[in-house]
Amino acid sequence: MSKAYETIKVERDEDILWITLNRPHRLNALNDVMMEELYDALMTAERDPSIRCVVITGEGDRAFSAGADITAFPKATPVTAEAFSRYGQEVFSFIERMSKPVIAAINGFALGGGLELALACDFRIAAEHAELGQPEINLGLIPGWGGTQRLARIVGIARAKELVMLGDRIKADEALKIGLVNKVVPYDNLRDEARKLAKKLCDLPPIAVRYAKLAINFGSQAPLEAGLRIESAFMGLTFSTEDLKEGVEAFMMRRKPHFKGR
Ligand code: COA
Repeated sequence: MSKAYETIKVERDEDILWITLNRPHRLNALNDVMMEELYDALMTAERDPSIRCVVITGEGDRAFSAGADITAFPKATPVTAEAFSRYGQEVFSFIERMSKPVIAAINGFALGGGLELALACDFRIAAEHAELGQPEINLGLIPGWGGTQRLARIVGIARAKELVMLGDRIKADEALKIGLVNKVVPYDNLRDEARKLAKKLCDLPPIAVRYAKLAINFGSQAPLEAGLRIESAFMGLTFSTEDLKEGVEAFMMRRKPHFKGR
């Protein structure tokens, strides 16, 4: 993938695609160009069967992303703000619907839209110095890219209200305690840890990984009975795959399975 982007960097690392938010002078704040480029890179990753996992991170050691670019706010109108909110929601929802796992490697501040981006990812690994929060309330607005919805689903309504209604930042170890991130690691190990997790996901059967992700993401939006039906349907579908035959055979033969994504 050799596309030239203005606000993100995209690098191929075997079957992993790394997307780096790249406006460090603005703490990787998300403007409309970055949002469009991120969407483009994600769609390209989704279409490329040789990519099995995506990692999103930020350039430098200061920020994953400090959120929406506040410098654009003075010119915004209710109509343009609503459209920007809907567009961002579409991009982040695309991450949730993607057929491959997406990891957020949180290398510093993940605030506002930066945290909302991470919330849409399947896994969040944070550097020890990272700080997370939904500080929009301090500016007189509320999150518009899923922060009032996904955060509550991940950490529960009580914690989500603290973060969204009070607007305070929390440190990575606190984020780990409340289940907002999966793991906290020293900054110097962040890339290796994200890669290790990505490689582990790449070695698992991709169709089952996809169905597990989608069953959880769609099921969590449905009543339990409907969610259970979604689970059964995806589980049943795994019986059409070569990977399931390979997994069961490898188990019986006491050898390592080799999954092909078929
Ligand atoms: N949009 C646009 N620019 C941003 C930004 C954002 N969301 N966050 C930071 N920046 C810019 C700063 O304006 C500054 O630019 P300058 O050097 O031209 O003045 C640069 O990034 C560095 O940030 P700075 O505030 O000087 O760093 P700091 O270490 O003192 O503070 C933060 C870091 C993250 C605490 C602080 O930048 C902040 O609160 N940012 C806004 C977070 C936010 O409210 N996000 C939600 C937006 S809806």
